[in-house]
Amino acid sequence: MIQIRNLTKVYGSYPNQIVALDQVSLDIAKGEIFGIIGLSGAGKSTLIRCINMLERPDQGEITIGGKEITALSRRKLRQERRKIGMIFQHFNLLSSRTVADNIAFPLEVAGVPKTEIVKRTQDLLGLVGLTDKTDMYPSQLSGGQKQRVGIARALANNPEVLLCDEATSALDPQTTKTILALLQDINKRLGLTIVLITHEMDVVKEICDSVAVISDGKIVETGSVVEIFAHPQTETARQFIQGVIQIDLPTEIRNSGLVLTTPSERAVIARLSFIGESAGEPIVSSMVRLFNVDVNILAGNIDHIKGVPFGTLVVELRALNGGLDEALQYLEDQGIEIEVLKDESRSA
Ligand SMILES: Nc1ncnc2c1ncn2[C@@H]1O[C@H](COP(=O)(O)OP(=O)(O)OP(=O)(O)O)[C@@H](O)[C@H]1O
Ligand SMILES: [Mg+2]
Repeated sequence: MIQIRNLTKVYGSYPNQIVALDQVSLDIAKGEIFGIIGLSGAGKSTLIRCINMLERPDQGEITIGGKEITALSRRKLRQERRKIGMIFQHFNLLSSRTVADNIAFPLEVAGVPKTEIVKRTQDLLGLVGLTDKTDMYPSQLSGGQKQRVGIARALANNPEVLLCDEATSALDPQTTKTILALLQDINKRLGLTIVLITHEMDVVKEICDSVAVISDGKIVETGSVVEIFAHPQTETARQFIQGVIQIDLPTEIRNSGLVLTTPSERAVIARLSFIGESAGEPIVSSMVRLFNVDVNILAGNIDHIKGVPFGTLVVELRALNGGLDEALQYLEDQGIEIEVLKDESRSA
């Protein structure tokens, strides 16, 4: 649906240049929810503003639905832009217009006949669950309701793409969830492609199919959300993921030694990370059976990403006479990632 090739955007002039986007290339498939995550100043807003050409890139191409929008004339661009809706962190509603009139605004601009505007506005109000707020003003709405108006307005011209710039950053966690659920519902129902910019991995985990990690104007990693969670390639990605699934080892465990009871015993504390159906408890229990290992679960967290179980367990494992090496090898062979945090053995 969207192809971005070698997009570069530089602000300012030499010698005070800021390279906001540096050779960015991305492919966003039709109908997917694509997350772009990065720290403040990474270039996220610049990128999303380039996608609808609110910002002119210095180099590179953007193709949306087969049309290279970076090559269009002003007039053609205005037409193409109708196929791209956008919502903002601070909603950007017109305070002097009612809810219905805010939603009607882009339709008026597009020259849609009055009766049709009324009908379409009603439909959109229903879609975002605001039928009872039709004649209210933005100042009378909660943040979540304002964003619903923003979403309805963005959808007014039946866009093919919805761009969201930190659309939930000004909302509390509960309201964030309801807005994300609405976006997901719209994505499914209308087959809309959604590009969602965020600095919160929680948002990505909640609704995105794919994600790109942007750092200092460069895309450092991109792939399916499950893939990135399972095998992050860069430190930046790892840090974002840790914010969501990290379990910190309790201080007592971190500071305490492992006590060995017999000379031939070995004990380790390990963090086991697993993903997918074959993972988790069944593997741990078959390891116990096969290798005569004692397992003590110290901390754990199992979650689902796009329906795929994903988790981390911190365990203490004990075994005699080299049994532990085999057990750890077994876990690794089952696709579990192992990080040994502590290792005690008498003979070593
Ligand atoms: N109009 C501008 N003029 C000059 N520099 C700019 C302009 N807009 C953005 N920048 C710079 O470009 C870089 C990327 O900014 P951008 O707004 O895209 O970051 P962001 O990832 O959206 O950050 P945030 O999460 O804080 O919104 C920053 O260093 C910023 O200072
Ligand atoms: Mg921004």
